[in-house]
Amino acid sequence: MPPVGDAIRAALLTPAPAAKVMAARKVARDWRLGRLGLTFDQPMPNRPARPVAPELLPPNRMPKRGKAGSERGRLALWHALAHIEFVAIDLALDMAGRFGAEMGEDFVSDFLGVAADEAMHFALLERHLATMNSSYGAMPAHDGLWQAAEQTAHSVAARLAVVPMVLEARGLDVTPSTIERVTNHGDMAGARILTRILDDEIRHVAIGSKHFDECARIQDMTPENYWILLVRRHFRGGLKPPFNDSARLAAGLSLSACAVLAC
Ligand SMILES: [Fe+2]
Ligand SMILES: [Fe+2]
Repeated sequence: MPPVGDAIRAALLTPAPAAKVMAARKVARDWRLGRLGLTFDQPMPNRPARPVAPELLPPNRMPKRGKAGSERGRLALWHALAHIEFVAIDLALDMAGRFGAEMGEDFVSDFLGVAADEAMHFALLERHLATMNSSYGAMPAHDGLWQAAEQTAHSVAARLAVVPMVLEARGLDVTPSTIERVTNHGDMAGARILTRILDDEIRHVAIGSKHFDECARIQDMTPENYWILLVRRHFRGGLKPPFNDSARLAAGLSLSACAVLAC
């Protein structure tokens, strides 16, 4: 059987958004149907291939989003969300491809499932942008998310502690107020997309924390203490309250550890 590692690597190295969405969904489907072997012959790329647009800028050079509620401000929101989901496809693929040999079959199944979800999220947002006569790439995006992946490429525990359990968990906190804002603007289709994304993201964080618990057990540490240690070591700045306690609890995060890490 062809190695799953090669299929993941090929999806990471696919630059065009539509092609990456298809590649991510195909590798997840082929894996689920037992068409790929649990082998990883090649290293994952340090950086995934990116499309020509959007232009990637350092976070501090991003143009202002425009007044809240303005046409430009609304477009900028959907562009930013589409970019997050686009990078999330690669983050999930890289998780499965980089750490799959060490973590095993369930881990690969979980994170390829996440990659397929992220591809679906991106496709939904891209379609929503089209209804606003825009498309992914029309506005610049920032390059902060992949930095977290680079800084934790050496350790699956560090990667899990920071990417699903800090960065994706942050989405659980902020999405409800975004849904409210979008609803107030009368964008019901947008609100439905974000509600679906929020449900899926609770599951993604839960998958991250489940595998993290296993890493903590191997280290003979409590998940809480190990998470606090690794977030302090690998994530600059603390967690930003207020927290969505019910979503964080549903995702298996420790609220007391969140409180310790709050800035
Ligand atoms: Fe997502
Ligand atoms: Fe996610």
